[in-house]
Amino acid sequence: MKKLKFEQMCKRACKLAKTLKSRKDVLIVTHVDADGITSGAIACQSLINAGIECKVVFIKQLDEGAIEKVADTGKFVWFTDLGSGQIDLIEKHGVECIITDHHVPLRRVGYQLNPHDFGVDGSCEFGGATSTYLVARYMNRANRNLSSLAVVGCVGDLQDFRSGKLLSYNRLILKDGVKEGVLEITRDIRLFGKQTRPVYKMLEFTFDPFLPGLSGSEEGSIKFMTSLSVPPKEGELWRRWIDLKRNEKIRITSALVKLLMKYCYPLSSIERLVGEVYILKEQPEGTELKDAMEFSTLLNATARYGYEDVGLDVCLGVCKSISSSRFEKALKRARVLLQNHRRNLSEGIKLVDEIGITELENIQYFHAGNAIMDTIVGIVAGMYFSKANLEKPIIAFANTDDGVKVSGRATQRLVELGVDLSEVMRIAAEKVGGKGGGHCIAAGATIPKGSEEKFLKEVDRIVGLQIRS
Ligand code: C5P
Ligand code: C5P
Ligand code: ZN
Repeated sequence: MKKLKFEQMCKRACKLAKTLKSRKDVLIVTHVDADGITSGAIACQSLINAGIECKVVFIKQLDEGAIEKVADTGKFVWFTDLGSGQIDLIEKHGVECIITDHHVPLRRVGYQLNPHDFGVDGSCEFGGATSTYLVARYMNRANRNLSSLAVVGCVGDLQDFRSGKLLSYNRLILKDGVKEGVLEITRDIRLFGKQTRPVYKMLEFTFDPFLPGLSGSEEGSIKFMTSLSVPPKEGELWRRWIDLKRNEKIRITSALVKLLMKYCYPLSSIERLVGEVYILKEQPEGTELKDAMEFSTLLNATARYGYEDVGLDVCLGVCKSISSSRFEKALKRARVLLQNHRRNLSEGIKLVDEIGITELENIQYFHAGNAIMDTIVGIVAGMYFSKANLEKPIIAFANTDDGVKVSGRATQRLVELGVDLSEVMRIAAEKVGGKGGGHCIAAGATIPKGSEEKFLKEVDRIVGLQIRS
């Protein structure tokens, strides 16, 4: 069955690759997050390799205004990591295009590669970058080395979150990368910052899962290490995870497992602590680019703040298709943005601690007002599951220029119980004159200011229905 579906998807990818190759000039329109940037970079690099002119533009929300602008260019468009939810608008404005996306599509069309059209889950089996990569792969065999960027995109989209590794079709592209010699799969602790941060900082800044006594505490994290006879420093230098000896890593990992067991964490979140880690073999040791998880966060740190071009340059630099000075400059800028991003996330978590989370019958919510940016409120909401009730989806609000941004996050367990936030956001937003969509487990919307209460009521009602049915 799976093989058959893959064959069908490859056939579609092959057809779309042919369409692209018949063009001289293509406009790539992509999404402002890690898998949007990697998708854009994969598309761009494969067109460059084919000698086709191209340009990448980033779009936060593909609404009618944005599509009109795209249509006005008169160019052939490659939509990546978005577009499937806007097929009607794309057709209404007569945009000639192909789409490689993984969001729930409005309907089936022959010019898109979307896993849902083939009965495949777009939130854990097949990401937006996977979709884009598959087309690139059929444009030219040499594009297989772009699989490392596709894996970074998948990880950025949390496709590996549930099982601690990439599954299904995402795994097939991972294997491409291993075969090409650009990726390596290792088993390790799945915390952020193994390559670049001192171990105590890595622990201190882990909020997902929340590590009692360590998360948010520098002193607690350092004490934890010394109590396990793992010196935090070597000479004057703070040791990173990659600097530790194997038995030191094991001591820390098992102590973390014990800690979470002591605090009665669900088995699933304890199991997720260790899993697969994807290494970009050609990148220098000790940099953000070496580890797919760190790489994707670096990209999110650019995109979520309106500096997608910086992230794109980092990806193109990795493909060696821009000058090394431009690459270095982008990397330096991205690192500054990353520090800013980390600060914002930890301040976001603290803010939710302060304002608290309100539980309704079937959901829980917080309203960040102007205190958390609309572009990261969803990340904060997802991270907050480490502290909040795991039995109810989290709905988060943040003000934007054109209304109120909503981000919804569920857990895998809730999805298994029937929760589909993509449907919830779409229906509830429409009810109050807004627009929404996304995935079962993570979705978002924009609604008019002042409609939050009515919206919440509707969300609470629909989630209740989904769980009961
Ligand atoms: O638009 P896009 O699909 O790329 O955005 C997906 C977002 O959903 C990611 O930023 C990620 O935070 C979230 N997500 C999640 N859990 C998943 C899959 C995605 O929270 N299993
Ligand atoms: O912004 P956030 O990370 O919460 O988005 C979660 C998911 O919901 C993403 O896949 C995004 O593309 C989708 N979304 C949407 N319509 C919106 C806002 C978000 O489809 N208005
Ligand atoms: Zn995506």
